[in-house]
Amino acid sequence: MAKEKKIDDTEDLTEKKNLTIEDLPGVGEATADKLRENGYDDIMQIAVASPKDLADISGIAEGAAVKIIAAARKYADVGNFETGEEILQRRKEVLKLSTGAQGLDNLIGGGLETQSITEFFGEFGSGKTQIMLQLAVNATIPKEQGGLDSDVLIIDTENTFRPERVIQMARARNLDPDETLKRIHVARAYNAHHQILLAEKAAEIAKEFPIKLLIVDSLTSHFRSEYVGRGSLAERQQLLNKHMHDLLKFGTIYNAVIAVTNQVSANPAVFFGDPMTPIGGNIVGHTATFRIYLRKAKAGKRIARLIDSPYLPEGEAVITLTEDGIIDGT
Ligand code: GTP
Ligand code: MG
Repeated sequence: MAKEKKIDDTEDLTEKKNLTIEDLPGVGEATADKLRENGYDDIMQIAVASPKDLADISGIAEGAAVKIIAAARKYADVGNFETGEEILQRRKEVLKLSTGAQGLDNLIGGGLETQSITEFFGEFGSGKTQIMLQLAVNATIPKEQGGLDSDVLIIDTENTFRPERVIQMARARNLDPDETLKRIHVARAYNAHHQILLAEKAAEIAKEFPIKLLIVDSLTSHFRSEYVGRGSLAERQQLLNKHMHDLLKFGTIYNAVIAVTNQVSANPAVFFGDPMTPIGGNIVGHTATFRIYLRKAKAGKRIARLIDSPYLPEGEAVITLTEDGIIDGT
């Protein structure tokens, strides 16, 4: 027998908290399972879904999907406007995490911001993973010294986390390497769905440890290898979109820095200039607040270019990858 908890349209919705997707009219257990499997696990996600996507995923008719979405919109805070003052207040809580290289920090306005996603993209060996490890070490140091005095969560999709490098970088900053390693929590993601799941679970770990830095290295590699060809592009983009929004939500709720890496693919349409395009298209581009393109230069040097920032000018900084970590590259 169906449980009698369904939402009644006449009720005062502000009284209703902790609604689950089963509370939506037209969503039975089987439909709810299918929705969850596809990442629609709360009412807000359904409220902002398209009827066609919902119908395709759950096997219900599009007309029924329209009704479910309409109900979800009533209960989700879709129309929940914030005043400029409230947003300013939240912005005041933004912390900045130093990269360890002054030039790069200056380029991005003093360091990586909490409540935002910062994406580093570039070809293999451009230093993305090295920067992630450096950020992990830096996040553990006190705020006065450019850190966040926090624990770190790393979602490692390529098995490139190296504690030995963390130890070297920690020593170079006069930190106790063992203490530093204890504050860095690493999860291997074996495929794209596992990666999404780990991002969803991040909140559970954040209840136990003060996580102010969440790293995904690499954001796109699983998606790129698992969803090949035009036929799977829409699904790939949809999953990436959900994943990015989970990450951003974590950053906002926990006032955390989200740092992700991304590969590039050669774009044959570009004949002049640099033909490297980041993977993930508009979805990644629009959700990442800061995008930094890393280019190889001579002798361990890398050129970091800030792209598409909402309020900072485009520009470049040179860094050097050393055994001690990331330093200014002049
Ligand atoms: P992919 O993940 O393959 O796309 O590359 P990536 O951008 O993550 O590159 P990664 O950060 O792994 O950079 C590798 C580069 O870092 C190497 O080519 C070295 O130049 C540099 N590097 C790594 N470890 C050391 C080290 O101990 N000492 C020095 N001097 N450089 C290092
Ligand atoms: Mg790497």
